[in-house]
Amino acid sequence: GAPARADVSKLEPGQQMIVEWRGRPVWIVRRTEEALANLATMDDRVADPESNRAEQPDYIPKTPERALRPEFAVLIGICTHLGCSPTYRPEIAPADLGDNWLGGYFCPCHGSRFDLSGRVFRAQPAPTNLVIPPHAYLDDNTLIIG
Ligand code: FES
Repeated sequence: GAPARADVSKLEPGQQMIVEWRGRPVWIVRRTEEALANLATMDDRVADPESNRAEQPDYIPKTPERALRPEFAVLIGICTHLGCSPTYRPEIAPADLGDNWLGGYFCPCHGSRFDLSGRVFRAQPAPTNLVIPPHAYLDDNTLIIG
């Protein structure tokens, strides 16, 4: 299939855009500095911090940020449990997600929670982190997926 292309130049910190690649939604989120700082504190809360069990291209560094450019997360927007579409919930500690919530994704089907790197929290129905698709930056503004 053809690669997808996204212009990330208009994406403000905290915003997410969605592009389609091979019939699947790909989320691109520009993480704030606060979100990146929070991610660095999450390793003991997530099931697979270095994403060793998740499907990822070999060239994705297995760091907490899991990104070629840390401000951008690039994820397949499909829950690794039974394929529902998790909801982007970037806000800190909303009432319905609790005081410990530091932003991420919430799957409405069976309640799986993921951080803003797509890492699943411990003891969730989803068995693995969200999938990172193959991707690269053509230039400062252009992301190629596939
Ligand atoms: Fe997402 Fe079950 S499909 S938690």
